[in-house]
Amino acid sequence: MANRMLRIDPTDHVFILTGAGVSAESGIPTFRGAGGLWRNYRIEEVASPYAWERDPGLVWEFYSMRRRVAGDAKPNPAHFVLAKLEEAIGDRLFLCTQNVDGLHERAGSRRVIHMHGELFKSRCDRCSRSPFADEKTYEPPAEIPLCECGGRIRPHICWFGEMPFEMEKIFTALEKCSMFVAIGTSGVVEPAASFVAHVRGRALTAYVGPEEPANRSAFDECYMGAAGELLPKLFVVEQRTRRAGG
Ligand code: APR
Repeated sequence: MANRMLRIDPTDHVFILTGAGVSAESGIPTFRGAGGLWRNYRIEEVASPYAWERDPGLVWEFYSMRRRVAGDAKPNPAHFVLAKLEEAIGDRLFLCTQNVDGLHERAGSRRVIHMHGELFKSRCDRCSRSPFADEKTYEPPAEIPLCECGGRIRPHICWFGEMPFEMEKIFTALEKCSMFVAIGTSGVVEPAASFVAHVRGRALTAYVGPEEPANRSAFDECYMGAAGELLPKLFVVEQRTRRAGG
C-alpha cells in the first residue's frame, strides 16, 4: 500500500474531510474506540442542547478540559501536509474539518471550513452577536459567563441535534470536486458520513486511517495507517494534465 499515491491533476478540485484521527498523533483523544472521549462522557450530558439546559456548568467543564488539551497540543505531519497542499493548489483544495481544535490553522492552513464549530470561540445562546475568540476556561465553581444581553455564553460548537455550519458552501464544493479524501473519521456521524456517497461515481474517493470506516464501501481506495505517517507520501501534485495513452 505504501507505494500507492493520489495524483492531483491541474484540473482537479480536491475535497478533504478530516476527523478526530488527524489530531490523534497530536495527543488529542478521538471520540470513539479505545481511549475515545465518548467512552468516558455521555454525549447527551455534555454535547447537546439538552445538556446545556440541564447543566451548563458540566458542559463548560467538558469544553474547558478540551480547551486545555487542545491548547497544549501541536500540529503533526498530517496537518502540515494539508497546509502545504493548500500552498500548492490554492483554492482547488477545499478543507472541511469536523475537528474543533484549530490545529489545521496552527499548521498554516488558511481556508478551513469548521463544520462542527471552533473550540476557541464562544457565542451567546440568546442574541445574534457573532462568535468571538475565547481561550478561557469556565469550570465550577466559576459562574457561567453572561452576554451583555443577559444570555449565557456557550461554546461555539455544533452539538448533537444542531445544524452543522457552512453546509451551503460544503455542498457547492462537493458538487465541484473530482477527488474526495476522508482522513481519520469513523464515518458514523451525519451529515459528514454521507458526503462520500454524494460524490461517489463522479469523483475519486479515498479514505486514510488505521481502521476501515463504517462507510468503507463508498470509497474507491483505502489507505490503511496513521495519517501522520501516510500523508507525507500520499499526494503528488502534477504540473501538467496526464493524457491517456501518452
Ligand atoms: N490517523 C488517522 N486516523 C486515525 C488515527 C490516526 N493516527 N488514529 C485514529 N484514527 C481514526 C480511527 O480509526 C477512527 O476511525 O480516526 C477515527 C476517529 O473516529 P471518531 O472518534 O468517531 O471521530 P470523528 O469521525 O471525527 O467523529 C465525528 O463525532 O462526536 C463527534 O462531533 C464529534 O466531530 C466529531 C464527530
